[in-house]
Amino acid sequence: MAPIKNICCIGAGYVGGPTCAVIAYKCHDIKVTICDINAQRIEAWMSDKLPIYEPGLDEVVFSRRGKNLFFSTDVDKHIQEADLIFVSVNTPTKKKGLGAGMAADLAYVEAATRRIAQVSTSSKIVVEKSTVPCRTAESMRAILEANCTANVKFDILSNPEFLAEGTAISDLFNPDRVLIGSLQTESGKVAQQTLADVYANWIPRENIITTNLWSSELSKLAANALLAQRISSINALSAVCEATGADVDEVAYACGRDTRIGSKFLKASVGFGGSCFQKDILNLVYLSTQLNLPEVAEYWKQVYTMNEYQKNRFTRNIISTLFNTITNKKIAVLGFAFKKDTGDTRESAAITLIKSFMEENARVAIYDPKVEAEQIYLDLTEPGVVDNRKQVEKCIEICGSAYEAAKDADALVVVTEWDEFRQLDYNRIYKDMHKPAFVFDGRLMLDAPKLRDIGFKVHVIGKNPLEGRA
Ligand code: UDX
Ligand code: UDX
Ligand code: ADP
Repeated sequence: MAPIKNICCIGAGYVGGPTCAVIAYKCHDIKVTICDINAQRIEAWMSDKLPIYEPGLDEVVFSRRGKNLFFSTDVDKHIQEADLIFVSVNTPTKKKGLGAGMAADLAYVEAATRRIAQVSTSSKIVVEKSTVPCRTAESMRAILEANCTANVKFDILSNPEFLAEGTAISDLFNPDRVLIGSLQTESGKVAQQTLADVYANWIPRENIITTNLWSSELSKLAANALLAQRISSINALSAVCEATGADVDEVAYACGRDTRIGSKFLKASVGFGGSCFQKDILNLVYLSTQLNLPEVAEYWKQVYTMNEYQKNRFTRNIISTLFNTITNKKIAVLGFAFKKDTGDTRESAAITLIKSFMEENARVAIYDPKVEAEQIYLDLTEPGVVDNRKQVEKCIEICGSAYEAAKDADALVVVTEWDEFRQLDYNRIYKDMHKPAFVFDGRLMLDAPKLRDIGFKVHVIGKNPLEGRA
């Protein structure tokens, strides 16, 4: 097969945007066009302020835009021109119907696939890039094959993306591995090699793994489930630490030094967030249930349950420490994004926490260096509930700095591990807060002994607060 010259990416989101921008950056002789039906999003990609905050992304996009990287709402035209099409549309969890709350909503993937089938006038390699449940490629193939003609053939590949937000560009420049799954047919294998050749422009061949289609799809769900499982495991241990006087950071370090366990991804926290972990675990649970494997489903479900437990445990601890009531108290929440270095708030623990604080009639002051105020309101408002927005606006205040949020607050709650929270002038914050001034560190990131010296009452996940008094 001839080398790829023209790539179209359907879906200009967190996955499609950075991934295809990096392909354009690394492969100057490939024309890459990223398409979306959302005109506002495309406009933002063409502006000075990109729709996604991601360290290093601006440089990549600005250096190739207008040269071999383009953005467009004309999906049909770019499907027609492309030799290879990435499908990177959203796959949210279904809100209603069969599998509601668990199964992925594949309506967007199907619509994009049907569009490809309908408008293509030449053969294409179609690459599934969105995280999708196992065997989605099979449905895509059925749709595409039903529309094959003598001149138009489709090969389907699964090429899941493993980038993490906040480090997307370095993950894309130096991935641990790239995974490409294909049907084990002659033409499937040729298509697989053709895509591998694109990545080989900057990734060593030994890091490009080829598998069958189903292994590739399942590996993506499995990788996210295993990562989330590590966090739930350390978070479960954090509760034991708090009750006993063991220190969860010390336990994680001691365990992580065993090379079989490894040191990464063992940081206890207020709970994992992000668009992938919860969604993929619930997908895996749903898949296992569908396959009549209830024990397997139950096993993975526990990873999700533990995460919910951790968020609730943290909230309960805050309320009970503040003398069992937070009514009319001011709680300063530092961080709203689901992790540092991103403006993304999907499934952020901050949302669950703040909703609980509002239910207890607390006043909540929120500061996040990257999340827009409007996004915070959207996340905290229940859709369809009359006057809910007004109620939310009454309870929360969105602040321009941590100092503003902490002024007259009863408690400071760290939810996102932004580096700047380490550098704050805590003497100033202490002076401005009500006494006793409480700090709840949901990210184990602050210098607790130093804060205690200033006068704060400090609670850290996975550490016994009484230890600090000794
Ligand atoms: C994740 C996977 O890492 C990535 O490979 C996949 O492609 C998409 O899902 P992402 O959700 O962007 O990426 O970020 P990640 O760094 O994995 O963090 C997810 C959540 O886990 C965050 O809320 C983070 O704060 C939390 N986390 C992570 C912990 O609480 N402790 C840790 O040790 C690591
Ligand atoms: C274990 C711990 O490895 C060791 O650090 C601790 O001190 C004692 O417990 P052990 O039980 O001797 O050591 O052997 P190990 O190699 O860990 O295997 C335990 C069981 O797990 C075996 O039945 C082994 O076959 C099984 N196993 C191990 C798997 O099924 N898959 C694996 O990938 C690894
Ligand atoms: P992800 O995190 O998986 O990248 P996002 O929600 O950030 O998900 O992005 C998915 C993008 O796909 C959205 O911008 C959405 O408008 C776009 N999209 C969904 N369906 C289609 C379609 N049929 N054609 C073009 N774009 C689509």
